[in-house]
Amino acid sequence: MDKSNSKQKRVILTGFMGVGKSTVARHLSSIVGMEVIDLDYFIEEKEKQTVAEIIEKNGIEYFRKLETESLKKILQNGAAAIISLGGGTWTNEKNRKLIKADGCTTIWLESTFEHCWRNINSSWRERPLAKNKKQAKKLFEEREKVYCLADWHFIVKPDLNSFEVAKQIADEVFSINQN
Ligand code: S3P
Repeated sequence: MDKSNSKQKRVILTGFMGVGKSTVARHLSSIVGMEVIDLDYFIEEKEKQTVAEIIEKNGIEYFRKLETESLKKILQNGAAAIISLGGGTWTNEKNRKLIKADGCTTIWLESTFEHCWRNINSSWRERPLAKNKKQAKKLFEEREKVYCLADWHFIVKPDLNSFEVAKQIADEVFSINQN
């Protein structure tokens, strides 16, 4: 994909909680000069509460509906952007169909469960679907077979910082070499 083509396209980052989607998306945005939208933050701004509060108060099904509506709104707004999904967004077939229909380029950020779990634990962000290690590990294992349906696959090694991962994506997906 050359730079001019990628400018027309939306790029979607998916992957498990704690893999670093939001941070990689912000770095990628600064490298390729495209606006970045974080789906969870978009929902939080609209609802004036955190995703964790929405899930705790109204349940996961309610949140999933909000998530799909918000994704639709972002996709309907024509501006090219890098969109960072929540960890469960891509696992919903309805959302995958919306994303495919829009022609987005999808990227799975993969890491080991232990790496994601360490980040989940060290983050200030509350994650109601990862309250304990056993529950989180089960979700992680179930989701891998769906995340891998994304067009691209990048492995986030624990020793590679988020900027390095963003640089790799810029190079391979956008053909923008920073070196
Ligand atoms: C979820 C992941 C969270 C957030 C919500 C549900 C999930 O986003 O959307 O708590 O189902 O994996 P992050 O992946 O940014 O933590």
